[in-house]
Amino acid sequence: MSLILGLESSCDETAAALVTDDRRILAHRVAGQEAEHRPYGGVVPEIAARAHVDRLAPIVEGVRFPYLLLLVSGGHCQLLLVRGVDDYRRLATTIDDAAGEAFDKTAKLLGLGYPGGPAVERLAADGDPHAVPLPRPLVGSAEPHFSFAGLKSAVARAVASGAHRPADVAASFQQAVVDCLIDRSRIALAACPEATAFVVAGGVAANGAIRAALTGLAAAFDKLFVAPPLWLCTDNGAMIAWAGVERFAAGLSDPLDTAARPRWPLDPAAEAVRGAGVKA
Ligand code: KG4
Repeated sequence: MSLILGLESSCDETAAALVTDDRRILAHRVAGQEAEHRPYGGVVPEIAARAHVDRLAPIVEGVRFPYLLLLVSGGHCQLLLVRGVDDYRRLATTIDDAAGEAFDKTAKLLGLGYPGGPAVERLAADGDPHAVPLPRPLVGSAEPHFSFAGLKSAVARAVASGAHRPADVAASFQQAVVDCLIDRSRIALAACPEATAFVVAGGVAANGAIRAALTGLAAAFDKLFVAPPLWLCTDNGAMIAWAGVERFAAGLSDPLDTAARPRWPLDPAAEAVRGAGVKA
């Protein structure tokens, strides 16, 4: 099998990909240049050429540690500095619900079924994200922790009032989650100048509004933004196999009689955070 590195630098985006001669894409990275060209209202070829030179090496090396990871799933909402294989520093976690849990509970309140995230996103497309006033829990606080329980209660009150269109509730809820994730991630990015990239993972990373907002935030910090393709955001076997490949290559293995652990913290040294309901 041959491994081919492709580099794309034709206009205002720099891209690199690793492909095999049996037509598999092993890795793909894109870095935009919007910030450089925005002041001129269009692409300036000289600026584009210089930006390609600046970005090519970092995106080719884009598997590189350390990177900042926003993990947003049905059970987790964390910001982690990933320093290496099996080497995480947890910067923040949720003090109550996870982001996906908030999507699922909002879907239930709106009668949309389970899993709620994709259904809320679909309904939100027809709604006004500013129609329903909803809180942004912990936004503005110094530590980048998350909280979604108060947002869920506010959604419940908005639904019970009968004063709003369901699509407006869905869009306003989704916007509140976007605002929380952006504010909290901004603090973490500012605290981690050593991060080579900003990575989002977990089921909620499939949400288009969230991906778009995080893409903009990464660009503002001049970080490479990395998100799995949509079909690999939610639970899948490939991520387990890949974690196994990385751990095995690093000489890490577990005996066959390893005990089952219902909760397995990525950063065992992280302190429990105090909040409404503590989740380490
Ligand atoms: O990572 P994941 O597949 O597994 C568990 O945490 O178990 O994440 C599932 C979560 C669910 O809460 C689901 O509602 C949410 O990810 N989710 C989404 C979207 N797709 C899945 N949330 C928002 N928008 C989506 N498009």
